[in-house]
Amino acid sequence: MRVLLTGRFDAGEREAWAAELARQLPEAHWLDDAEADAAPAGITAAVVANPAPGRLVRLPDLRLIQSLWAGVDKLLADTTLPPSVPIARMVDPAMNAAMAETALWAVLALHRGFFTYQAQQRQGQWQPLPQRRADEVPVLVLGRGQMGGTAAARLAAQGYPVQTWGRSDGALAPRLATAQVVVNLLPLTPETRGLIDARFLAALPRGAALVNLARGAHVVDADLLAALDSGHLAHAVLDVFHTEPLPAGHAFWQHPRVTVLPHAAAATDERSAAAVVVANLRALQAGTPIANFVDRGRGY
Ligand code: NAP
Ligand code: GLV
Repeated sequence: MRVLLTGRFDAGEREAWAAELARQLPEAHWLDDAEADAAPAGITAAVVANPAPGRLVRLPDLRLIQSLWAGVDKLLADTTLPPSVPIARMVDPAMNAAMAETALWAVLALHRGFFTYQAQQRQGQWQPLPQRRADEVPVLVLGRGQMGGTAAARLAAQGYPVQTWGRSDGALAPRLATAQVVVNLLPLTPETRGLIDARFLAALPRGAALVNLARGAHVVDADLLAALDSGHLAHAVLDVFHTEPLPAGHAFWQHPRVTVLPHAAAATDERSAAAVVVANLRALQAGTPIANFVDRGRGY
């Protein structure tokens, strides 16, 4: 089996993936871009991390595109993707667990005022805040898929009253009206792009907080900044941004009501994620069902 491993990787990341994948599936021929360009025939699978647009159209025998990313918005933006080749995305319980940890940390820190204490320390200020119970802090999780579902269960186990919102749930505004913290774990699709705008934020009660762990383009930055500046929104924890890394000088960096994370809410763990990839490659070879298909029509 000839498999192309391609995409945009951080320094040393491609080598780590290549080593782990080869360790778990040594019988495959793992190829890089140059090797694939030299001999594209017979490459049946591409394991990709947001590959360069146009990269996959040059593989005549491709039968599976396996994303190393959970979110496939960037991948699907490539209009040259071969339309008949199925796409599978990364679904890894280890990644879901990491996301649930980040959501729990953010909600706990917001609920107990820990971001405020951090700011107070910088001012040399000693000022205990009133303490609320977890059951007094309603949390709304947008998306109840792999990430949203796992995060919601973790938050509920911690005692928060948790609601989730998916496509079948209808109007969002009544749920926003009762939420103290909103955790966004939606995929980025034409329907969800720009969802978190002035209207969305105005529907939240004064003093609510936003935790965006999904994609930067879910948020209209100017509307978020206006809601923070007016004090309507108490705080935003942001892991993802329109442009990443977040550009120097962006208003989020120094905003007193914003906590910035470097797209680190749930990194893909090569050890467990490689096993997910290898299971799908073995299924492709055996002609058994592939897991975690992307529905191109829905966009996730
Ligand atoms: P998933 O399993 O596909 O779940 C998506 C959920 O969103 C489903 O519940 C789906 O509803 C819901 N949804 C989709 N479109 C909707 C719409 N228009 N209105 C309301 N609900 C909608 O995805 P996942 O694995 O949980 O991942 C979610 C996202 O997390 C990814 O797409 C990615 O952007 C982000 N992510 C971020 C990081 C990070 O480190 N920051 C890491 C991994 C993933 P249905 O149940 O009706 O289908
Ligand atoms: C990370 O954001 C992912 O989609 O895997």
